[in-house]
Amino acid sequence: MTAAALEVRDAAVSYGGVHAVDGVSISVEPGAVVGLIGPNGSGKTTLLDAISGQVRLSAGTIELDGEDLVDHLPENRADLGLVRSFQDCRLYPELSVEDVLLTSEDARKPVGVFATAFQLPWARRREREKREAADRAIRSFGLGRFRDHRIAELSTGTRRVVDLATILLAQPRLLLLDEPTAGIAQREAEAFAPLLRRIHEVTGATILLVEHDVPLVFSLCTHIVVMETGRVVAAGTPDEVRADPAAVAAYLGASSEAVQRSGVHADHEQHLARADLRRVEAVEHTAFVTPDDD
Ligand SMILES: Nc1ncnc2c1ncn2[C@@H]1O[C@H](COP(=O)(O)OP(=O)(O)OP(=O)(O)O)[C@@H](O)[C@H]1O
Ligand SMILES: [Mg+2]
Repeated sequence: MTAAALEVRDAAVSYGGVHAVDGVSISVEPGAVVGLIGPNGSGKTTLLDAISGQVRLSAGTIELDGEDLVDHLPENRADLGLVRSFQDCRLYPELSVEDVLLTSEDARKPVGVFATAFQLPWARRREREKREAADRAIRSFGLGRFRDHRIAELSTGTRRVVDLATILLAQPRLLLLDEPTAGIAQREAEAFAPLLRRIHEVTGATILLVEHDVPLVFSLCTHIVVMETGRVVAAGTPDEVRADPAAVAAYLGASSEAVQRSGVHADHEQHLARADLRRVEAVEHTAFVTPDDD
C-alpha cells in the first residue's frame, strides 16, 4: 500500500446560510501526519465529511493522487484507500471484539453467501485469511484479553482501540481521524499517541487527524492546520504554528498551558519513546501496544 497525496483547493460547504467550510486549501504529502485543529464549529468535521463524501462541496475540488474525488461515490472511496473514523465511535455494541474485526474484514473483502454455504475451497481459504488478519490486529493492539468481550462491556478508551484496530484492517492510504480521544480520560488519551504512531508505521498511510488534545497533536503531527469559522488561519510545522499569533488568537491562546505542555511533551517524546510504551502498558483498562509484533 502506498500513501496517498491529498490536495484540497478552495473547498466550500454550506448548510443553509452557514458557511461551514469557506474556501479551504490544504496540500498533504503522501505519508504525512497532519493535525487539523480549531475551536468548536470551525468546520473540521465538515471538511472530513467533504473528503470522505458525506457532504458535497458547493465550490472547489478535492483530489486524491491527482484524481478528482467528485467522480467517486462515497461508498466507493474506500476502494481508493480512503478510510475514516467518526467523532462518535460507531461499533455494534452487541458484537464481540473478534466479531467486529471479522465483520470489518468481511466488509472489505466480501465472500458470497453461495461460496460460503457450499464451502468452496477458495471461500475456506479466504475465511482462514480473514481470521489471521483479525488475529494480527488483536495482537498488534494488545486486545487479546478482550477478544470475547462484547463492545458494550468495554471502557470508552478500549472501544476506541478496537475502532483503531478495524482501521488497521482496512489498509488505508489516506486515513481521516475525527477526535479519536473524544470522551476518554486524560490518562487513556495519553495512551493513544503510541497507538496512532503504530498505525502510521504499519500502514504508512497519510493521516489527517482532527483532535482537541493539543499536546497529542503537537507531538504526533509533522504539520498542523488551524481552522476558524470555516477558514484556515494558520498552517505549518508544530514550531511555526506554536509561534504564529493567528493560531494563538484563534485557538491556542485559550489553552496556553496546553501549548506549553505540548512543547515539553514533544521534546520528551522524541527521547522517551520506550518510556512512553511502558506508560501505556501501565494504563489499566486500556489496550496497549506490543512493540515486538509485526
Ligand atoms: N448537518 C449539519 N446541518 C447544519 N449545520 C451543520 C451541520 N453540521 C455542521 N453544521 C454547522 O457547520 C459548522 C461547522 O461544524 P463542524 O461540525 O464541521 O465543526 P467542528 O470544527 O468539527 O466542531 P467540533 O470541534 O465541535 O467537532 C458549525 O457552525 C455547525 O453548526
Ligand atoms: Mg467535529
